[in-house]
Amino acid sequence: MTYSNINYEALFQQSIDRLKSEGRYRVFNDLERKAGSFPHAQSHITGKTVNVWCSNDYLGMGQHPKVISAMSEAIGRYGAGAGGTRNISGTHHAMVTLEETLAELHNKEAALVMTSGYVTNEAALSTLCSILPDCIIFSDEYNHASMIHGIKSSKAEKKIFRHNDIEHLEELLKAANPLRPKVIAFESVYSMDGDISPIAAICDLAEKYNAITYLDEVHAVGMYGDHGAGVAEREGLMERLDIIQGTLGKAYGVMGGYIASTRTIVDVIRSYASGFIFTTALPPALAAGANASIRHLMESSEERKRHQYNVGALKDMMLKAGIPVMPSQSHILPVLVADPVLCKKASDMLLNQFDIYVQPINFPTVPRGTERLRITPTPNHNHAMMFELTRALVWVFERLGIKPDMSVLDKAA
Ligand SMILES: Cc1ncc(COP(=O)(O)O)c(C=O)c1O
Repeated sequence: MTYSNINYEALFQQSIDRLKSEGRYRVFNDLERKAGSFPHAQSHITGKTVNVWCSNDYLGMGQHPKVISAMSEAIGRYGAGAGGTRNISGTHHAMVTLEETLAELHNKEAALVMTSGYVTNEAALSTLCSILPDCIIFSDEYNHASMIHGIKSSKAEKKIFRHNDIEHLEELLKAANPLRPKVIAFESVYSMDGDISPIAAICDLAEKYNAITYLDEVHAVGMYGDHGAGVAEREGLMERLDIIQGTLGKAYGVMGGYIASTRTIVDVIRSYASGFIFTTALPPALAAGANASIRHLMESSEERKRHQYNVGALKDMMLKAGIPVMPSQSHILPVLVADPVLCKKASDMLLNQFDIYVQPINFPTVPRGTERLRITPTPNHNHAMMFELTRALVWVFERLGIKPDMSVLDKAA
Protein backbone atom coordinates (compact mmCIF):
# COMPACT_ATOMS: atom_id res chain seq x y z
CA MET A 1 0.00 0.00 0.00
CA THR A 2 1.35 3.49 -0.83
CA TYR A 3 0.66 6.54 1.23
CA SER A 4 0.70 10.14 -0.03
CA ASN A 5 3.40 12.40 1.26
CA ILE A 6 1.34 14.63 3.56
CA ASN A 7 3.18 17.60 5.05
CA TYR A 8 1.36 17.91 8.37
CA GLU A 9 3.49 20.78 9.60
CA ALA A 10 2.66 22.82 6.47
CA LEU A 11 -1.07 22.19 6.90
CA PHE A 12 -0.98 23.44 10.49
CA GLN A 13 1.14 26.43 9.48
CA GLN A 14 -1.37 27.35 6.75
CA SER A 15 -4.13 27.61 9.36
CA ILE A 16 -2.01 29.90 11.48
CA ASP A 17 -1.06 32.00 8.43
CA ARG A 18 -4.75 32.38 7.57
CA LEU A 19 -5.43 33.88 11.02
CA LYS A 20 -2.47 36.22 10.62
CA SER A 21 -3.56 37.40 7.18
CA GLU A 22 -7.06 38.19 8.54
CA GLY A 23 -5.50 40.16 11.41
CA ARG A 24 -6.98 37.90 14.09
CA TYR A 25 -3.98 35.90 15.25
CA ARG A 26 -4.10 35.97 19.04
CA VAL A 27 -1.11 37.19 21.03
CA PHE A 28 -1.39 36.85 24.79
CA ASN A 29 0.32 39.37 27.00
CA ASP A 30 2.81 37.73 29.38
CA LEU A 31 1.59 39.24 32.65
CA GLU A 32 2.54 38.90 36.27
CA ARG A 33 -0.41 39.85 38.47
CA LYS A 34 0.69 41.15 41.83
CA ALA A 35 -1.42 40.50 44.91
CA GLY A 36 -2.13 43.82 46.57
CA SER A 37 -1.63 46.04 43.52
CA PHE A 38 -4.39 44.90 41.14
CA PRO A 39 -5.30 46.32 38.56
CA HIS A 40 -1.57 46.82 38.05
CA ALA A 41 0.53 43.95 36.71
CA GLN A 42 4.02 43.48 35.39
CA SER A 43 4.17 42.90 31.61
CA HIS A 44 6.98 40.61 30.55
CA ILE A 45 6.43 41.83 27.00
CA THR A 46 7.06 45.53 27.60
CA GLY A 47 9.05 45.05 30.80
CA LYS A 48 6.86 47.69 32.48
CA THR A 49 4.01 47.88 34.95
CA VAL A 50 0.69 48.04 33.11
CA ASN A 51 -2.82 48.98 34.14
CA VAL A 52 -5.15 46.09 33.28
CA TRP A 53 -8.55 47.18 31.92
CA CYS A 54 -9.78 43.86 30.56
CA SER A 55 -9.74 41.45 33.50
CA ASN A 56 -12.74 39.29 34.38
CA ASP A 57 -11.62 39.42 38.02
CA TYR A 58 -14.34 42.05 38.04
CA LEU A 59 -14.22 42.89 41.74
CA GLY A 60 -10.54 42.21 42.43
CA MET A 61 -11.49 39.25 44.65
CA GLY A 62 -8.47 37.33 43.33
CA GLN A 63 -6.35 39.33 45.74
CA HIS A 64 -8.82 39.73 48.61
CA PRO A 65 -7.11 38.94 51.95
CA LYS A 66 -9.95 36.59 53.02
CA VAL A 67 -9.61 34.59 49.80
CA ILE A 68 -5.82 34.43 49.95
CA SER A 69 -5.77 33.34 53.58
CA ALA A 70 -8.51 30.70 53.02
CA MET A 71 -6.49 29.24 50.16
CA SER A 72 -3.15 29.32 52.02
CA GLU A 73 -4.70 27.72 55.07
CA ALA A 74 -6.36 25.00 52.96
CA ILE A 75 -3.08 24.16 51.21
CA GLY A 76 -1.35 23.83 54.58
CA ARG A 77 -4.15 21.68 55.95
CA TYR A 78 -5.19 19.50 53.02
CA GLY A 79 -2.24 19.63 50.61
CA ALA A 80 -2.28 20.56 46.95
CA GLY A 81 -4.57 18.32 44.93
CA ALA A 82 -8.00 16.72 45.17
CA GLY A 83 -6.60 13.22 44.86
CA GLY A 84 -8.59 12.31 41.78
CA THR A 85 -12.13 12.27 40.44
CA ARG A 86 -14.93 12.34 42.97
CA ASN A 87 -16.12 9.05 41.55
CA ILE A 88 -12.85 7.34 42.48
CA SER A 89 -11.50 9.31 45.44
CA GLY A 90 -14.57 10.68 47.19
CA THR A 91 -15.47 14.31 47.78
CA HIS A 92 -13.15 16.41 49.91
CA HIS A 93 -14.96 18.30 52.64
CA ALA A 94 -14.12 21.80 51.32
CA MET A 95 -16.17 20.90 48.23
CA VAL A 96 -19.17 19.82 50.32
CA THR A 97 -19.05 23.18 52.13
CA LEU A 98 -18.75 25.08 48.83
CA GLU A 99 -21.75 23.28 47.32
CA GLU A 100 -23.84 24.05 50.42
CA THR A 101 -22.89 27.71 50.11
CA LEU A 102 -23.84 27.79 46.42
CA ALA A 103 -27.21 26.16 47.05
CA GLU A 104 -27.87 28.74 49.77
CA LEU A 105 -26.71 31.61 47.53
CA HIS A 106 -29.19 30.73 44.80
CA ASN A 107 -31.89 29.50 47.16
CA LYS A 108 -31.91 26.08 45.53
CA GLU A 109 -31.98 22.57 47.01
CA ALA A 110 -28.51 21.60 45.80
CA ALA A 111 -25.46 22.61 43.78
CA LEU A 112 -22.75 20.75 41.89
CA VAL A 113 -19.24 22.13 41.29
CA MET A 114 -17.10 21.28 38.26
CA THR A 115 -13.68 22.40 37.08
CA SER A 116 -14.78 25.49 35.12
CA GLY A 117 -17.83 27.34 33.87
CA TYR A 118 -17.10 25.99 30.40
CA VAL A 119 -17.00 22.37 31.57
CA THR A 120 -20.20 22.90 33.58
CA ASN A 121 -22.17 24.21 30.60
CA GLU A 122 -20.86 21.48 28.33
CA ALA A 123 -21.52 18.71 30.85
CA ALA A 124 -24.87 19.94 32.17
CA LEU A 125 -26.50 20.83 28.86
CA SER A 126 -25.30 17.72 27.03
CA THR A 127 -26.58 15.50 29.84
CA LEU A 128 -29.87 17.31 30.40
CA CYS A 129 -30.82 17.35 26.74
CA SER A 130 -29.85 13.75 26.10
CA ILE A 131 -31.64 12.39 29.17
CA LEU A 132 -34.95 14.10 28.44
CA PRO A 133 -36.55 11.86 25.79
CA ASP A 134 -36.99 13.55 22.38
CA CYS A 135 -36.10 16.91 23.89
CA ILE A 136 -36.01 20.22 21.98
CA ILE A 137 -33.54 22.83 23.14
CA PHE A 138 -34.25 26.53 22.51
CA SER A 139 -30.99 28.46 22.56
CA ASP A 140 -30.27 32.20 22.28
CA GLU A 141 -28.17 32.86 19.17
CA TYR A 142 -25.50 34.65 21.25
CA ASN A 143 -25.06 31.84 23.77
CA HIS A 144 -21.48 31.07 24.81
CA ALA A 145 -19.40 28.46 22.97
CA SER A 146 -19.59 26.12 25.99
CA MET A 147 -23.40 26.05 25.83
CA ILE A 148 -23.34 25.50 22.08
CA HIS A 149 -20.93 22.57 22.48
CA GLY A 150 -23.04 21.05 25.24
CA ILE A 151 -26.16 21.33 23.11
CA LYS A 152 -24.39 19.86 20.07
CA SER A 153 -23.05 16.88 21.93
CA SER A 154 -26.52 16.07 23.34
CA LYS A 155 -27.69 15.50 19.72
CA ALA A 156 -31.09 16.92 20.75
CA GLU A 157 -33.06 18.95 18.20
CA LYS A 158 -32.13 22.60 18.63
CA LYS A 159 -33.96 25.79 17.76
CA ILE A 160 -31.97 29.01 17.82
CA PHE A 161 -33.94 32.12 18.73
CA ARG A 162 -32.79 35.61 17.74
CA HIS A 163 -30.81 37.27 20.47
CA ASN A 164 -33.09 38.34 23.36
CA ASP A 165 -36.09 38.17 20.97
CA ILE A 166 -39.08 37.01 23.01
CA GLU A 167 -41.46 37.03 20.06
CA HIS A 168 -39.20 34.78 18.05
CA LEU A 169 -38.78 32.44 21.03
CA GLU A 170 -42.56 32.22 21.42
CA GLU A 171 -43.00 31.53 17.72
CA LEU A 172 -40.60 28.58 18.00
CA LEU A 173 -42.17 27.27 21.23
CA LYS A 174 -45.67 27.51 19.77
CA ALA A 175 -44.65 25.55 16.67
CA ALA A 176 -43.14 22.72 18.73
CA ASN A 177 -45.02 19.55 19.68
CA PRO A 178 -46.56 20.25 23.13
CA LEU A 179 -45.81 16.70 24.24
CA ARG A 180 -42.03 16.98 23.76
CA PRO A 181 -39.79 18.09 26.68
CA LYS A 182 -38.30 21.55 26.17
CA VAL A 183 -35.29 23.37 27.60
CA ILE A 184 -34.66 27.12 27.16
CA ALA A 185 -30.96 28.00 27.52
CA PHE A 186 -29.82 31.60 27.80
CA GLU A 187 -27.49 33.98 29.65
CA SER A 188 -28.24 36.91 31.94
CA VAL A 189 -25.34 39.24 31.02
CA TYR A 190 -23.97 38.72 27.51
CA SER A 191 -20.27 39.16 27.90
CA MET A 192 -19.26 40.76 24.62
CA ASP A 193 -22.10 43.28 24.29
CA GLY A 194 -22.84 43.81 27.97
CA ASP A 195 -26.60 43.58 27.42
CA ILE A 196 -29.01 41.76 29.76
CA SER A 197 -31.68 39.24 28.81
CA PRO A 198 -35.42 39.61 29.58
CA ILE A 199 -35.37 36.87 32.24
CA ALA A 200 -38.94 37.41 33.52
CA ALA A 201 -40.43 37.28 30.01
CA ILE A 202 -38.49 34.10 29.23
CA CYS A 203 -39.74 32.51 32.48
CA ASP A 204 -43.32 33.48 31.48
CA LEU A 205 -42.89 31.66 28.18
CA ALA A 206 -41.30 28.67 29.91
CA GLU A 207 -44.37 28.38 32.15
CA LYS A 208 -46.81 28.87 29.30
CA TYR A 209 -45.18 26.18 27.11
CA ASN A 210 -44.09 23.91 29.96
CA ALA A 211 -40.34 24.22 29.31
CA ILE A 212 -37.50 24.21 31.84
CA THR A 213 -35.04 27.10 32.02
CA TYR A 214 -31.23 27.01 32.10
CA LEU A 215 -29.67 30.40 32.89
CA ASP A 216 -25.93 31.10 32.58
CA GLU A 217 -25.10 33.82 35.14
CA VAL A 218 -21.33 33.55 34.62
CA HIS A 219 -20.85 37.31 34.15
CA ALA A 220 -23.33 38.23 36.87
CA VAL A 221 -22.61 36.10 39.93
CA GLY A 222 -20.94 38.09 42.68
CA MET A 223 -21.93 41.27 40.82
CA TYR A 224 -25.70 41.76 41.03
CA GLY A 225 -28.36 41.22 43.70
CA ASP A 226 -28.14 41.93 47.42
CA HIS A 227 -26.08 38.78 48.02
CA GLY A 228 -24.32 38.67 44.67
CA ALA A 229 -26.41 35.77 43.33
CA GLY A 230 -26.78 37.49 39.95
CA VAL A 231 -29.33 39.31 37.82
CA ALA A 232 -32.04 36.76 38.70
CA GLU A 233 -31.61 37.70 42.38
CA ARG A 234 -31.65 41.43 41.59
CA GLU A 235 -34.93 40.95 39.71
CA GLY A 236 -36.49 38.60 42.28
CA LEU A 237 -36.62 35.72 39.80
CA MET A 238 -34.39 32.99 41.21
CA GLU A 239 -37.32 30.78 42.22
CA ARG A 240 -38.65 30.82 38.67
CA LEU A 241 -35.47 29.42 37.15
CA ASP A 242 -34.92 25.67 37.06
CA ILE A 243 -31.14 25.65 36.69
CA ILE A 244 -28.75 28.50 37.41
CA GLN A 245 -25.19 28.08 36.18
CA GLY A 246 -22.23 30.18 37.28
CA THR A 247 -18.46 30.44 37.50
CA LEU A 248 -16.05 30.82 40.40
CA GLY A 249 -13.42 32.23 38.03
CA LYS A 250 -14.65 35.75 37.30
CA ALA A 251 -16.16 37.99 40.02
CA TYR A 252 -15.28 35.39 42.66
CA GLY A 253 -11.66 35.61 41.55
CA VAL A 254 -10.74 31.91 41.76
CA MET A 255 -11.67 29.05 39.40
CA GLY A 256 -14.42 26.47 38.83
CA GLY A 257 -18.00 26.31 37.63
CA TYR A 258 -21.32 25.05 39.00
CA ILE A 259 -25.03 24.54 38.64
CA ALA A 260 -27.62 25.14 41.36
CA SER A 261 -31.00 23.48 41.01
CA THR A 262 -33.36 20.89 42.49
CA ARG A 263 -31.87 17.87 44.25
CA THR A 264 -33.07 15.61 41.42
CA ILE A 265 -31.59 17.66 38.59
CA VAL A 266 -28.26 17.98 40.41
CA ASP A 267 -28.30 14.24 41.08
CA VAL A 268 -28.95 13.40 37.45
CA ILE A 269 -26.07 15.61 36.22
CA ARG A 270 -23.80 14.17 38.96
CA SER A 271 -24.74 10.66 37.93
CA TYR A 272 -24.56 10.95 34.14
CA ALA A 273 -22.37 13.90 33.04
CA SER A 274 -19.12 12.68 31.57
CA GLY A 275 -17.43 16.08 32.04
CA PHE A 276 -18.16 15.80 35.76
CA ILE A 277 -17.49 12.11 36.37
CA PHE A 278 -14.28 11.49 34.46
CA THR A 279 -12.07 14.38 35.55
CA THR A 280 -10.11 15.27 38.68
CA ALA A 281 -12.08 17.43 41.11
CA LEU A 282 -11.17 21.01 41.95
CA PRO A 283 -8.44 21.06 44.65
CA PRO A 284 -9.53 21.87 48.23
CA ALA A 285 -7.64 25.19 48.22
CA LEU A 286 -9.65 26.44 45.23
CA ALA A 287 -12.90 25.31 46.84
CA ALA A 288 -11.97 27.03 50.12
CA GLY A 289 -10.94 30.24 48.33
CA ALA A 290 -14.14 30.30 46.29
CA ASN A 291 -16.21 29.66 49.41
CA ALA A 292 -14.53 32.58 51.23
CA SER A 293 -15.11 34.85 48.24
CA ILE A 294 -18.81 33.94 47.89
CA ARG A 295 -19.41 34.26 51.65
CA HIS A 296 -17.74 37.68 51.67
CA LEU A 297 -19.81 38.94 48.73
CA MET A 298 -23.01 37.54 50.26
CA GLU A 299 -22.48 39.84 53.24
CA SER A 300 -20.73 42.82 51.70
CA SER A 301 -22.19 45.06 48.98
CA GLU A 302 -19.28 47.47 49.26
CA GLU A 303 -17.37 46.06 46.27
CA ARG A 304 -20.52 45.98 44.10
CA LYS A 305 -21.37 49.60 44.95
CA ARG A 306 -17.88 50.91 44.23
CA HIS A 307 -17.78 48.85 41.07
CA GLN A 308 -21.09 50.13 39.76
CA TYR A 309 -20.11 53.69 40.56
CA ASN A 310 -16.85 53.27 38.60
CA VAL A 311 -18.65 51.71 35.64
CA GLY A 312 -21.03 54.70 35.45
CA ALA A 313 -18.22 57.23 35.85
CA LEU A 314 -16.01 55.68 33.16
CA LYS A 315 -18.89 55.22 30.73
CA ASP A 316 -19.81 58.89 31.13
CA MET A 317 -16.24 60.03 30.72
CA MET A 318 -15.71 58.00 27.55
CA LEU A 319 -19.01 59.02 25.97
CA LYS A 320 -18.32 62.71 26.68
CA ALA A 321 -14.92 62.32 25.00
CA GLY A 322 -16.60 60.87 21.89
CA ILE A 323 -15.37 57.28 22.37
CA PRO A 324 -17.74 54.84 20.57
CA VAL A 325 -18.95 52.93 23.64
CA MET A 326 -21.52 50.33 22.63
CA PRO A 327 -24.95 50.50 24.32
CA SER A 328 -24.25 48.20 27.29
CA GLN A 329 -26.64 47.65 30.24
CA SER A 330 -24.03 46.14 32.52
CA HIS A 331 -20.48 46.50 33.87
CA ILE A 332 -18.99 45.51 30.50
CA LEU A 333 -18.11 48.53 28.36
CA PRO A 334 -17.29 47.44 24.81
CA VAL A 335 -15.74 50.11 22.58
CA LEU A 336 -16.40 49.54 18.89
CA VAL A 337 -13.50 49.55 16.41
CA ALA A 338 -15.14 47.54 13.59
CA ASP A 339 -11.88 46.39 12.01
CA PRO A 340 -9.66 43.48 13.15
CA VAL A 341 -6.32 45.02 12.13
CA LEU A 342 -7.08 48.42 13.68
CA CYS A 343 -8.37 46.73 16.81
CA LYS A 344 -5.07 44.90 17.32
CA LYS A 345 -3.12 48.08 16.49
CA ALA A 346 -5.14 50.12 18.99
CA SER A 347 -4.50 47.52 21.68
CA ASP A 348 -0.75 47.49 20.87
CA MET A 349 -0.56 51.30 20.97
CA LEU A 350 -2.35 51.45 24.32
CA LEU A 351 0.12 48.93 25.70
CA ASN A 352 3.31 50.29 24.22
CA GLN A 353 2.69 54.01 24.58
CA PHE A 354 0.42 54.25 27.61
CA ASP A 355 1.08 51.05 29.63
CA ILE A 356 -2.62 50.25 29.36
CA TYR A 357 -3.66 46.69 28.67
CA VAL A 358 -6.92 46.03 26.82
CA GLN A 359 -7.07 42.82 24.77
CA PRO A 360 -8.57 43.16 21.23
CA ILE A 361 -11.73 41.11 20.65
CA ASN A 362 -12.05 39.69 17.15
CA PHE A 363 -14.00 37.02 15.22
CA PRO A 364 -15.12 34.35 16.14
CA THR A 365 -15.65 35.76 19.64
CA VAL A 366 -17.72 38.54 18.01
CA PRO A 367 -19.16 38.78 14.46
CA ARG A 368 -16.75 40.02 11.76
CA GLY A 369 -16.91 43.80 11.33
CA THR A 370 -17.79 44.35 15.01
CA GLU A 371 -14.29 43.99 16.46
CA ARG A 372 -13.95 45.84 19.72
CA LEU A 373 -11.99 46.65 22.85
CA ARG A 374 -13.82 45.20 25.83
CA ILE A 375 -13.24 47.39 28.86
CA THR A 376 -14.04 46.13 32.36
CA PRO A 377 -13.51 48.69 35.11
CA THR A 378 -13.10 47.32 38.63
CA PRO A 379 -13.56 48.86 42.09
CA ASN A 380 -9.75 49.09 42.19
CA HIS A 381 -9.55 51.58 39.31
CA ASN A 382 -9.69 55.23 40.38
CA HIS A 383 -10.69 58.49 38.67
CA ALA A 384 -7.13 59.35 37.64
CA MET A 385 -6.80 55.95 35.93
CA MET A 386 -10.13 56.43 34.14
CA PHE A 387 -9.04 59.82 32.92
CA GLU A 388 -5.74 58.38 31.71
CA LEU A 389 -7.54 55.57 29.84
CA THR A 390 -10.01 57.99 28.20
CA ARG A 391 -7.22 60.35 27.09
CA ALA A 392 -5.20 57.44 25.71
CA LEU A 393 -8.22 56.10 23.79
CA VAL A 394 -8.90 59.52 22.25
CA TRP A 395 -5.25 59.81 21.19
CA VAL A 396 -5.10 56.28 19.71
CA PHE A 397 -8.46 56.52 17.93
CA GLU A 398 -7.45 59.86 16.34
CA ARG A 399 -4.02 58.52 15.29
CA LEU A 400 -5.54 55.41 13.69
CA GLY A 401 -8.55 57.24 12.23
CA ILE A 402 -10.99 54.94 14.06
CA LYS A 403 -14.53 56.29 13.59
CA PRO A 404 -16.77 53.23 13.43
CA ASP A 405 -20.29 53.36 12.11
CA MET A 406 -22.46 52.07 14.99
CA SER A 407 -25.02 50.74 12.50
CA VAL A 408 -22.70 47.75 11.83
CA LEU A 409 -24.05 46.41 15.11
CA ASP A 410 -27.63 46.32 13.76
CA LYS A 411 -26.45 44.56 10.62
CA ALA A 412 -24.45 42.01 12.61
CA ALA A 413 -27.43 41.15 14.85
C1 LIG B 1 -21.27 33.19 29.15
C2 LIG B 1 -20.11 32.33 29.56
N1 LIG B 1 -20.38 31.12 30.07
C3 LIG B 1 -19.38 30.31 30.46
C4 LIG B 1 -18.05 30.71 30.39
C5 LIG B 1 -16.97 29.80 30.86
O1 LIG B 1 -16.66 30.08 32.19
P1 LIG B 1 -15.22 29.72 32.76
O2 LIG B 1 -14.29 30.82 32.36
O3 LIG B 1 -15.40 29.57 34.22
O4 LIG B 1 -14.83 28.42 32.10
C6 LIG B 1 -17.73 31.97 29.88
C7 LIG B 1 -16.32 32.41 29.80
O5 LIG B 1 -15.96 33.51 29.55
C8 LIG B 1 -18.80 32.80 29.44
O6 LIG B 1 -18.55 34.01 28.92
